[in-house]
Amino acid sequence: MKPVRVGLLGLGTVGCGTVNVLARNAGEITRRAGRAIEIEMAATRDLSRSRGCDTTEFQLVQDPMEVVENPRVDVVVELIGGEQRAKALMLRAINNHKHVVTANKALIAVHGNEIFAAAQTKNVMVAFEAAVGGGISIIKTIREGLAGNRIEQIAGIINGTANYVLTGMRDQGREFAEVLADAQRLGYAEANPSLDVNGVDAAHKLTILAAIAFGIPLQFDKVYTEGIGQLTRGDIKYGCELGYQIKHLGIARRNGNGIEMRVHPTLIPKRRLIANVDGVMNAILVAGDAVGPTLHYGAGAGADPTASAVVADIVDVVRALTTDPENRVPHLAFQPGALASVDIVAPDMFETAYFLSLTAVDKPGVLADVTRILGDLEISIEAILQKEPPGNENTVPVIILTQRTRERHMNQAVSKIEALDAITRPVKRIRVEHFND
Ligand code: HSE
Repeated sequence: MKPVRVGLLGLGTVGCGTVNVLARNAGEITRRAGRAIEIEMAATRDLSRSRGCDTTEFQLVQDPMEVVENPRVDVVVELIGGEQRAKALMLRAINNHKHVVTANKALIAVHGNEIFAAAQTKNVMVAFEAAVGGGISIIKTIREGLAGNRIEQIAGIINGTANYVLTGMRDQGREFAEVLADAQRLGYAEANPSLDVNGVDAAHKLTILAAIAFGIPLQFDKVYTEGIGQLTRGDIKYGCELGYQIKHLGIARRNGNGIEMRVHPTLIPKRRLIANVDGVMNAILVAGDAVGPTLHYGAGAGADPTASAVVADIVDVVRALTTDPENRVPHLAFQPGALASVDIVAPDMFETAYFLSLTAVDKPGVLADVTRILGDLEISIEAILQKEPPGNENTVPVIILTQRTRERHMNQAVSKIEALDAITRPVKRIRVEHFND
């Protein structure tokens, strides 16, 4: 089948991320979508600028209208941001019967009602997963996964830059402006970073979330909005001393009189999961009457995470163009003929660290025997604890934390340790995962 041809508007942080993800994962993406996806043309203001992606495989132009007018382009991906120009381009693309994918939250929040109406008359898709929560697929989750619920509340850290700034001020005691400059350098902030600081970016995103959660039109002008510009390191420190973290939240919830939509700094008890979401990470709590509270977490900004959502939307469009409409998403995510035969790793080849709990007779040389067994199998020890014996027993609990090793080495080690006369009970092992790589 012929590849689907994409026209990109914008080759900034997210545009280049999209080029890279499409190239890096081309094989798997084709197996999921049912057709290859190729970039036909990309529009960028500065043709000569060096950038972090390979642009040699497609045509570069300066005028984005050339992309939306190009009859070879099937799907337009709008990543230039801003409102008026992006809106004109998107409406033109829709008018030309092209499906559109966008990461532009301002455009959807402010002009979405008009854009969706136009798309409906032309029978084309407008996909905007990347507009909220970066790489978290929160739009799809609310719209599809939680479709059986009456949504009661949404509360989210939905601006990665603001969260990065607050975390940097709290953890490193750094100045607001200095951390914000880092967020800009890392590609998290908007082209106009005051949108991140004054809460408007979060308000755009909350507008979209509230619309899909409660089935209401997009109403950006009704969102109460405060930014983080007034917060000092003192506020953050004193909040911490009282047991709270300060987070910039977007909240949309039903109350007896209607729906509240508000964006502002908020103190949250430290024990709440959402209070521990730091740096550029976003997290969105969605509470439904059937499912209860759910929390969705991931990188909220940056090239690859945002591109992850953009590419997912492109795949959705391609599936709709390609497959039987009644069987649009393959049951196993990949097209039925494209399932791969890959070995499943046998348990003895698993690799993990271990917490070992031993019961040992309290006499000299026992620990030396145990550590020798581990050493002979090249299992490194991270920590050892010998605890007080419970009651009057002459055995003691010994806890050993190891570094990562293969399961089969640990199986051998445990057999040998259990064979020692001084080990009186089976060794209990609990696997340890740090999730830090
Ligand atoms: N500037 C935005 C943020 C980018 O920091 O969250 C992702 O929408």
